[in-house]
Amino acid sequence: MKRNQGMKGEILHLLQHASDYVSGQELSKIFGVSRTSIWKSIKALTDEGYEIEGIQKKGYRLVGANIGLSASAIEAERVKKIMGRNVRCFEEVTSTNDLAKRFAEDGVEEGFLVVSDRQSAGRGRRGRNWSSPSGSGIYMSLILRPNIPAMKTPMITIIGGMAICKGVRKITGLDAQIKWPNDVVINGKKICGILTELSAEIDHVNYVVLGIGINVNTEEFPEEIKDTATSLKIESKKTLSRIELINCFLEEFERLYQCFIQDGSLGGLVEEYDRLLVNRDREVYIIEGEKKKKALAKGITKEGHLRIVNQDGVEEEVMSGEVSVRGIYGYV
Ligand code: BTN
Repeated sequence: MKRNQGMKGEILHLLQHASDYVSGQELSKIFGVSRTSIWKSIKALTDEGYEIEGIQKKGYRLVGANIGLSASAIEAERVKKIMGRNVRCFEEVTSTNDLAKRFAEDGVEEGFLVVSDRQSAGRGRRGRNWSSPSGSGIYMSLILRPNIPAMKTPMITIIGGMAICKGVRKITGLDAQIKWPNDVVINGKKICGILTELSAEIDHVNYVVLGIGINVNTEEFPEEIKDTATSLKIESKKTLSRIELINCFLEEFERLYQCFIQDGSLGGLVEEYDRLLVNRDREVYIIEGEKKKKALAKGITKEGHLRIVNQDGVEEEVMSGEVSVRGIYGYV
């Protein structure tokens, strides 16, 4: 990738933290680019809604901001980090996962993030669609390039769910929990879904696209999901900043992902995950095709499988690709 890819975000970061004007000359020295390139980035920031004063012989100063979803507002918080260091924000795309795959094929770095205000063809798991109206939800896809066998990639989805759950708790104070393996729920209703897609050879993962949809300020849902879905606004009675939640997610995800890559498993994260698990010590139905059996859910293994005690009192493990879990009185 070109050196000045995340430059706009880094300039914003500098302006946000500067006590005085920052000169164009200083900026061009820092980034090793011409003053015209700096001016172009400043112009792009003002187009995004940042109010930047430019005074001859003094330089630039950030005066205010009136921003919606902005790539720079994310990049500015992710300087010297990996996740979200380079971001592309769109008003409308078909699906952020589709676009992220195209960026990944073009060779962007790990941590590259695609965000859109709405999706015209948002996709959910099992061929379902994902309702993606404008102005209210987060629709984003994070590109990862882990050096792990393809069979371990479902663990990344688990970490994604954990990072959302922790981010939501931090920002809203709500009691968000995880429904195994990675749905995030509040008061028994779903606020987030994850669709992970993969390009891999037999012995090598080319890239993973972690696609995340969060119902943030959503007030109404389509008929078919209105009994099982909720939003952060419905639960907290507050309108929330999507940017703040994205940044909080990226921060949490970076830590959890590093731990997973270091260990090669979820070993170091099992306890933290189990504390967030809504199914823990609850009776659930384990559903496998047409078959449905009752069990007691206990927690996860270091591979991300669900530990259950079956009706004969015997401990078993079930895998997420093979079964799904429902609470015996409803969704959880
Ligand atoms: C689910 O069915 O629970 C998964 C939903 C995943 C939705 C997200 S929104 C951003 C990304 N782009 C898509 O088309 N889908 C995922």
